[in-house]
Amino acid sequence: MNTESLAQAIREIDPSVLTMTNPELRAHIRNLRDQLDFQKRELQYVRQQIKEQKQLEQDAQKRVEATKQLPMLICTVSELFEHVDEDSGEVLKSVVIKTTSRQNIFCPTAGLVPYSSIKPNDLVAVNRDTFLIYERLPQFYDARVKQMLVAERPSDSFKQVGGMDQIIKQVEEAVLLPFQKPELFDQVGIQPSKGLLLYGKPGVGKTLIARCIANACDCIFLSLCATQLIQMYIGDGSQMLQELFELAKEYVDKDTINGVPQNSPANKVRGALIYIDEIDAIGTRRFDAEQNSGREVARTLMTLLNLMDGFISNNQIKVLASTNRVDSLDPALVRSNRFDRKIECPLPNITGRVQILKIHSSKMRLSSDLNFEEVAKTCDGFSGAQLKAVCVEAGMNCLRRNGREVEMRDFMEGIGMVLNRKVAEEGYL
Ligand SMILES: Nc1ncnc2c1ncn2[C@@H]1O[C@H](COP(=O)(O)OP(=O)(O)OP(=O)(O)O)[C@@H](O)[C@H]1O
Ligand SMILES: [Mg+2]
Repeated sequence: MNTESLAQAIREIDPSVLTMTNPELRAHIRNLRDQLDFQKRELQYVRQQIKEQKQLEQDAQKRVEATKQLPMLICTVSELFEHVDEDSGEVLKSVVIKTTSRQNIFCPTAGLVPYSSIKPNDLVAVNRDTFLIYERLPQFYDARVKQMLVAERPSDSFKQVGGMDQIIKQVEEAVLLPFQKPELFDQVGIQPSKGLLLYGKPGVGKTLIARCIANACDCIFLSLCATQLIQMYIGDGSQMLQELFELAKEYVDKDTINGVPQNSPANKVRGALIYIDEIDAIGTRRFDAEQNSGREVARTLMTLLNLMDGFISNNQIKVLASTNRVDSLDPALVRSNRFDRKIECPLPNITGRVQILKIHSSKMRLSSDLNFEEVAKTCDGFSGAQLKAVCVEAGMNCLRRNGREVEMRDFMEGIGMVLNRKVAEEGYL
C-alpha cells in the first residue's frame, strides 16, 4: 500500500476509534462481528423469502395458463368505471362486459389486463365460468372486409396505358401527390380533395388506371366493387362500409398492426386509398323507393356520404371511384368535398388508339408492312378494350391461316369482327 492510500485509509477511520484503549477496541471489534453475523442471517432469510415468492408466482402463473387453455368467451367491453369500496375505502376499477348472448356482466376488476389498456367497445377474451378478463383482442373485422385489402399489388404500370397521359397526370396530382408531398398543399394552404371519380364509357381503362395506382402508390390499398355492398341482410352493406373505413383508419394511425411494422419499405407512405369500382350500384339517384331493396341501397349510400364527411380531419384516407353512368349518380355524392374531382376518361383519339394497339400487340410477331396509323384510322370510336380485342382477333386470324406473322389483313378482319360485336351490343354504328 503506498503512502497516499494509507493516508486516505487513516482519514476514513472514525475519530472515536483512534482514542480507544486496547480492551475497548477488542469489545468494539466483537460488537462489529456480531452485527455482521446478524446481517448475514437477515440476508439469508430475505433470499429464502424471495425464492418462496418466486415459486408461488410460478405456481399461480401455471394455474392461470391451465385455465387459459379452456375455450374462452369473446365479450365486448361496454363500460368502465371507478368507485370507492364502502368497507375498505379503496378505489376499485371495475368493468362491465357484454356477452354475445346479450348478458351484461359486472367484473369487479379488469382481470389480467391493465385497466388503462381497455376502453369501451374493445373485444376481450374472458373465462367462460368466472368471466375473468384474460386479454384484449385485436379489433375484429368482417372477413369480407378483410378481403378488400389488396395484399398482392397488381403488376400493371402506367406504361401499359395508352393515350391517357393527361388523365394519368390529373389522377397522380389528385391521389398520389397529397400522399407523397403533403407539404406542398400546406404551403399553398389548400385541402387536397378526398374523393376522385373516374367516369367514362365501358372499356376505356378506368379500372386499369386504378390498378396502376394500386401498383404505384406506397400506401395501403383497399379495393371493392360496389355490388359487394349489396347484401342479403338489412344494414350489412353499411356495416361493411363502416368497418372498411375503420380498417383504413387503423392502418393509417398505428405504427404496427398485429406486430407487423407499418412503416416497412412496402408502405413508405402513411395513407390508405379505397377504390370503389362501379359505384353506380349504390350511388344512383335516391328516389322514393317502394321496395325494401331500394331503400337498403339508399341507406348504404347515406353511410358512404357520412363516412366521407367524417374523416375530414384525416387527409390520409382517399376514395377513388369509377363508374360508367355518371349522369345517374346522386347529386349529394358528387358535391364538393366528397367526390369533388371528377375526371372523364374519353374514348381514345387517333394517337391514343395507335399507342393502345402498339401496347397490346407488343408481344406479337408483326409483319413489316403493318401500319398502325391506318389500323387506328379504321377503328374510330373504339374503346381501349375493343382495341385490345382487335389485337387478339388479329392474332387469332393469323393462327387460323397458319401465318407466321400478323399482317394488315388480319387486323382489318379483326376490326370487322369487333365492329360487328360493337353494333350488336350498342345497337348503332
Ligand atoms: N388506354 C388503354 N390502354 C391500354 N389498354 C387499355 C386501355 N383502355 C382499356 N384497355 C384494355 O381494356 C381492358 C378493360 O378496361 P377496363 O376494365 O379498365 O375498363 P373500364 O373503363 O373499367 O370499363 P367498365 O366501365 O366496363 O368497368 C383493360 O384491361 C385493358 O387491357
Ligand atoms: Mg371497370
